[in-house]
Amino acid sequence: MARVFYENVYKRWKETVAVKDFTLEIADKEFLVLVGPSGSGKSTALRLLAGLDSISDGKIYIGDRVINNVAPKDRDIAMVFQTYALYPHMSVHDNVGFGLKLRKMPKDQIHEKVLQAAQVLGIEPLLDRKPGQLSGGQRQRVALARAIVREPKVFLLDEPLSNLDAKLRVQTRAEISKLHQRLGTTFIYVTHDQVEAMTMATQIAVMNFGVIQQVGTPQFLYDHPTNVFVAGFIGSPSMNFFEVTVSGDADQVCLVADSGMSLPVPAKKRRALEKYRDKKIVFGIRPEDIHDPDFVPPDTEVAPLDTAVEVTELMGNEVFLHLTHGENNFLARVDPRTAAQPGSKMELMVGMDNMHAFDPESEQTIFSPEEEEPESPRQPKRSPATGVAEGAWITSRESAAPGSAQPEAEEEGKVELDKLAKEEAVTEQVAKPRGVPKDQADQD
Ligand SMILES: Nc1ncnc2c1ncn2[C@@H]1O[C@H](COP(=O)(O)OP(=O)(O)O)[C@@H](O)[C@H]1O
Ligand SMILES: [Mg+2]
Repeated sequence: MARVFYENVYKRWKETVAVKDFTLEIADKEFLVLVGPSGSGKSTALRLLAGLDSISDGKIYIGDRVINNVAPKDRDIAMVFQTYALYPHMSVHDNVGFGLKLRKMPKDQIHEKVLQAAQVLGIEPLLDRKPGQLSGGQRQRVALARAIVREPKVFLLDEPLSNLDAKLRVQTRAEISKLHQRLGTTFIYVTHDQVEAMTMATQIAVMNFGVIQQVGTPQFLYDHPTNVFVAGFIGSPSMNFFEVTVSGDADQVCLVADSGMSLPVPAKKRRALEKYRDKKIVFGIRPEDIHDPDFVPPDTEVAPLDTAVEVTELMGNEVFLHLTHGENNFLARVDPRTAAQPGSKMELMVGMDNMHAFDPESEQTIFSPEEEEPESPRQPKRSPATGVAEGAWITSRESAAPGSAQPEAEEEGKVELDKLAKEEAVTEQVAKPRGVPKDQADQD
């Protein structure tokens, strides 16, 4: 059982608080992605778990054991970094098996484990090469193989795809997801890239300034962002925001602005907005919820908005419209058959069913999912300690775990792991944090 639990964890450097009151439960077999902008404390959170940095305050558990004072090599984790940190003078085979050799495993056993890991990652034909003779994607797979031969309870990956080009990133992303499904082990994955987070995670924790903003499944965070930061960070292109005033009475509530905007609020959203009557709010709408009037999806409650089309970008399956309305610049993703022309005026249709609204002071969402969808099984629970909206993981954990969705895949992964001899799980980086070998010059 490799549940990981951070309990009110802090990391302080002299004047910086890199991680602040960090409370997060990561269930066994979860693929948890920690996502946030650069400097938000993601790597620090991971390094605290690996034992590469000391914890200033709070506790971290792996299973039921507090690991604050457990030596890194005894924590049953393996870590993969952005820089692959391979030994350039060693073959791929020896790089993968190096940690096992350090621990004096017999040669034939090492060989067997290396072959199995190589097979999982499709790098058997590369075993005799040196790292210098590999592409970036191949090197990252070697680094992954080196982690999996250790059979760790938890895999930690810190921006492992950042050094790859866009195409390879997409491909390797899928390979890591497959690896997770096959091994059925807990993965904690750090990235600044919300697309990686959305595509790979069973659970996402969004960080900003060392603080967890929200935790939940990718879809839950997309549909129910708890604040302006998460709303703007998750989803690409980003959500559009407008400052508006709530006006009208109980039967007819509109979002109005000096620009001439007047958007009626759907009935199910009115109650939550009552206390904002005649006050300002931040109105949020995703680009895909602004439609060309000729291609409004069925059963969509829409309201017209006058816009000026500045630029159109054909993406093939859709068109991005760069628009202005009054002082506001915003973006719509519309049907590729749109007749929109740059430099023209156009009335677009705003799908108000999917509107978001935020308090302008606190930047917190005004709509709680309970109010919007009382029957929804995905009701977030707010942690009394941190006030962090804990998203859908409580109810969705079972269905999100890849093992339960794909029992055969899990069984296969287990058999594979069983075949690998029991072994202390340590990364060379953890064993020798300062001794990371100089690898290829193109890194960092
Ligand atoms: N060794 C260190 N000494 C001092 N400050 C640090 C150290 N490591 C990280 N920090 C600071 O902690 C904050 C979080 O850093 P980090 O966890 O690396 O962010 P991320 O991985 O999200 O980019 C940053 O402000 C960074 O400057
Ligand atoms: Mg980092």
